Amino acid sequence: MKKIISVVGARPNFMKVAPIHRAFLNYRDKVNHLVCHTGQHYDEKMSKIFFEDLGMPHPDFYLGVGSGSHAEQTAKVMIEFEKILLGEKPELIIVVGDVNSTIACSLVATKLNIKTAHVEAGLRSFDRKMPEEINRILTDSISDFLFVSEESGLKNLKKEGIADSKVFFVGNVMIDSLIHHLTKSESSDVMKEYNLEPSKFILVTLHRPSNVDSEDFAKELLQLFNALSEKRKIIFPIHPRTKKNFLNFGFKPENDKILLTDPIGYIDFLSLTKNAELIITDSGGIQEESTYLGVQCITVRNNTERPVTVNVGTNHLAGRDLKKVEEVALNILSGNKKKGKIPELWDGKTAERIAEILVKKIA
Ligand code: UD1
Repeated sequence: MKKIISVVGARPNFMKVAPIHRAFLNYRDKVNHLVCHTGQHYDEKMSKIFFEDLGMPHPDFYLGVGSGSHAEQTAKVMIEFEKILLGEKPELIIVVGDVNSTIACSLVATKLNIKTAHVEAGLRSFDRKMPEEINRILTDSISDFLFVSEESGLKNLKKEGIADSKVFFVGNVMIDSLIHHLTKSESSDVMKEYNLEPSKFILVTLHRPSNVDSEDFAKELLQLFNALSEKRKIIFPIHPRTKKNFLNFGFKPENDKILLTDPIGYIDFLSLTKNAELIITDSGGIQEESTYLGVQCITVRNNTERPVTVNVGTNHLAGRDLKKVEEVALNILSGNKKKGKIPELWDGKTAERIAEILVKKIA
């Protein structure tokens, strides 16, 4: 029996590990798959609700590291995760995405000569000011198995000199979760709860430091939302980082057509994503989920590490000029919608492919 430990830390990790955990249940005779939660995200609405919504078991290990500067958070995860690895001696660890927990755990494992698989490898924004870009580059450079979600990832890894034999184009594991829970999301009450009508509202999420740490930019965002709320209702579930900053900046919408809510669980959020007429976001995952669902999405960033969502999907990369964002939004609301397609291998079977490859390689 081979032991594998998958790592989750922050909100976008949970929906990526859930299908991997399910896929390994088919190999129960060969693999003991365990889950370690670093505790990077710890609020009930940022963490616990996702375990419940996704039907994930309690994590086998909880490191409880919490928030801190990048160095503090990464270092705390490393110190605690090393203890787990020394005690458990797994054959392999799996890390997903690009958060601080991803690089912290892959670095610890690699130094202990424990094999590491990185799920969602090869994505690049080419913007090293984003902490996630540093996490991605470093994790890919030390991982033994790199599972790629879109074609740009293959090109990026080749350019960085990563051997083809380590790289596997398997599709998008987060879309596995979406497909798995889509039917369940149809019985969510969230639309009723906020009195929203399908295809008649805008869903907003913003949490990137570059967008929510500056008071001037927050003021401009408020103006944008006030203007767009004349056309459509807006629902804006607020990330704790955004909430803390916006409260300090005195961010207060002018009218009741802008609904500010706490972070929303996976199933309810899926219902909102599916029913929105337009999404305005700076999240990575939401660019992909909206593309799969064919929902219009405006990304308030100058770059995306997920170019397939723009080239094939329904994502509009509008930059951080909010006049431009307003223009693109009004154009979409007036009916000029981009017709997207579902990217290659985003078929709900990615985790099965990953499990099959890893079992062949190690079990
Ligand atoms: C992290 C990831 C980011 C991901 C995002 C999703 C890194 C570098 N960033 O950013 O890639 O898109 O998660 O949400 O790993 N906080 C709470 N409660 C929580 C978690 C956070 O109050 O449960 C607050 C704290 O004030 C904390 C701040 O949010 O300092 C930022 O949290 P942190 O984990 O450092 O990064 P995120 O901005 O959430």
